[in-house]
Amino acid sequence: MKTIDVKLGDRSHVIHIESGLLKRLPELLSKYNQGQKWVIVSQKSLIEKYVSVFHSNLIEDGFDSHIIEIPEGEHAKSFREYQKVVNQMMNLGCDRSTTILVFGGGVPGDLGGFVAATFMRGIDYFQIPTTLLSMVDSSIGGKTGINLDAGKNLVGSIYQPKGIFIDPEFLATLPSEEIVSGLGEILKYGAIYDKEFLSSISRGLDELESFPFSEAIKRSCEIKAEVVSEDENEKGRRRTLNFGHTVGHALEAHSGYGKIRHGEAIAYGMICSGWISNELGLLSDEETSFLKESIFKLPLPELGDLKTGSILHFIKRDKKHQSGVLHFIVLNGLGNAIISNKITEELIVNSLKEIQ
Ligand SMILES: NC(=O)c1ccc[n+]([C@@H]2O[C@H](COP(=O)([O-])OP(=O)(O)OC[C@H]3O[C@@H](n4cnc5c(N)ncnc54)[C@H](O)[C@@H]3O)[C@@H](O)[C@H]2O)c1
Ligand SMILES: [Zn+2]
Repeated sequence: MKTIDVKLGDRSHVIHIESGLLKRLPELLSKYNQGQKWVIVSQKSLIEKYVSVFHSNLIEDGFDSHIIEIPEGEHAKSFREYQKVVNQMMNLGCDRSTTILVFGGGVPGDLGGFVAATFMRGIDYFQIPTTLLSMVDSSIGGKTGINLDAGKNLVGSIYQPKGIFIDPEFLATLPSEEIVSGLGEILKYGAIYDKEFLSSISRGLDELESFPFSEAIKRSCEIKAEVVSEDENEKGRRRTLNFGHTVGHALEAHSGYGKIRHGEAIAYGMICSGWISNELGLLSDEETSFLKESIFKLPLPELGDLKTGSILHFIKRDKKHQSGVLHFIVLNGLGNAIISNKITEELIVNSLKEIQ
């Protein structure tokens, strides 16, 4: 088993990565079992595929295990669903010793993590990510939260899990578009942090059927763990993880959430940011083309007609959420991301021609 430390003082924890890990989970969790209630937060399809058996195994091993089902889709990250989960926990007799296992992609992760952060002022939880995106990104770093009508993730908390368990075998049942979405974030780690990793993923994308997922997950987790350890509260370096996200978020909002997946949108966003970096003289023509060609190896969905005014509206909204300053991430050479506060809306709009 590969383990990666997320070093955060008294909130430090370990990411465990191993194929077939799910079978060993009751054994690995047993040292945390003091007879408290365990609540698995997951979704119907995952409960049928994986959680039912896992839950039975926990009970067999002496855990007081319970399942709470949340809906599929982004709308599960709402006050309504949050309230339903905490009310069910009260009905089960949960207390401050209860431990949550969030089982699924970023949606159960963000909602279940936010419940853990707030139920009785905070209880322990573990992340068991099952989408590629959640394995390499959302399960690490402690960001939890729900959405408001005014925008995504506007209510939340940074609250670290006690551990993260990644079993790459979950990917066998994941729809291919979700794989592509996760690959978008994996390419991002190479672009912002590790040029050689970017080259190896780019080569791997030539034969998607034999893509080295386990290796790519490990390296991505190492990079995210290192960045988060250095800057848990996103005051500086953690912001570089938002490479491609200004345009990406605007594309998601413009198309309507659910039409384009997060990682697909940021893949397009990274092409725009690469072009902007090149315009600023920070990224060579050769590196800019390499980034673009690597991203276009992904089977991305068609964007259709992009309405500049609407994209700009969402970029301004993003800016408002960043205290009025747009922290735009550019590349000062491949593998080296920096933050710029000077990127104009005009430059962003011009960059859209790269993806049209
Ligand atoms: N907290 C963070 O740091 C962070 C970072 C990035 C994204 N996010 C959030 O993550 C969410 C997106 O996460 P996501 O892309 O994982 O989506 P998701 O959780 O909605 O999962 C996508 C779909 O895949 C299904 N699924 C999950 N695992 C499966 C498996 N192994 N086999 C078959 N089907 C499976 C789910 O049931 C769901 O229908 C967004 O809400 C986003 O805001 C959070
Ligand atoms: Zn992202």
